[in-house]
Amino acid sequence: MKPEVKSKVFVGFPIPQAGLEKLQAQCDVTVWDKAEAASREELLAALRDCEGFLSMAPYRVDDALLDAAPGLKVVSNHAVGVDNIDVAACKKRGVLVGNTPDVLTDTVADVTWALLLATAWRVVEADELVRGGQWGGLKPTDYWGADVTGATLGIVGFGRIGQAVARRARGFGMTVLYSSREAKPEAEQEAGARRVELDELLRHSDFVSLHCALAPETRGLIGAEQLKQMKPSAILVNTARGAIVDQTALVEALKTTAIRGAGLDVFAVEPVPQGDAITHLPNVVLTPHIGSATEKTRTQMALIAADNLLAGLRGERLPHAV
Ligand code: DGY
Repeated sequence: MKPEVKSKVFVGFPIPQAGLEKLQAQCDVTVWDKAEAASREELLAALRDCEGFLSMAPYRVDDALLDAAPGLKVVSNHAVGVDNIDVAACKKRGVLVGNTPDVLTDTVADVTWALLLATAWRVVEADELVRGGQWGGLKPTDYWGADVTGATLGIVGFGRIGQAVARRARGFGMTVLYSSREAKPEAEQEAGARRVELDELLRHSDFVSLHCALAPETRGLIGAEQLKQMKPSAILVNTARGAIVDQTALVEALKTTAIRGAGLDVFAVEPVPQGDAITHLPNVVLTPHIGSATEKTRTQMALIAADNLLAGLRGERLPHAV
């Protein structure tokens, strides 16, 4: 009897064990487990004879990659966002694309709130002060934060995550505005939110939180002009994608206190280069793209990504197809 030939799959980074075991049970799996992501050349070489690719940013799936991996049947992204994938190019060649929606909605919403509150209350700055023995004692005039309760929250992009962020705002008695391509009357009612144009949202919000997908029309959506429209007391929170914001303009706005602060989980370049201007600002709280980083959520994502990949190898419809 001829030995069974397993499909070769390349996993671009270490994933939670449960997802990996699922793949290993049925495929010939290679995992890129170096600290840094594979270079473009290393990636193309690794994919040459693969049928499946478990991917994620920064790996870019485009025509050149598909040319270099002619046997590829499925690209399974370990993320809900698929801005790293040219979906049209995949579709043209019959390469299936999957993602991991839903399971991370609440986790990203929670992290958004962690950043919003930490930035409003200057938690990181305050922590450094206490640790550094620089705290001169309680004074009524020191270390003021920004009121969250009763403030206005503007949500840009009102999909699953934007709506989850809005629901949490009710506990803080906030007025919630949102901007979105389409009106979402049911979600609006549930979250107690009101749809407005982006300009109005920027002018009226004390906190602006970004939850739209990165697409050609949202790249650079928040630039110098939009930052100028925000209140000088406002805080920007981004747990969506770095490229939605013009980071150079944001640094300038923060330096000149044209806005009060920013809580950022995503950046123009990831990982953030050492010494980047954003890291020198006192009025920012920065986290390393941890929006979905809990054991439960990341394990669920790995299992979905594995299921998508296995379905694609069998030529079946993916449970979470893009
Ligand atoms: C996503 O799923 O798109 C996140 O940004 C990755 O954790």
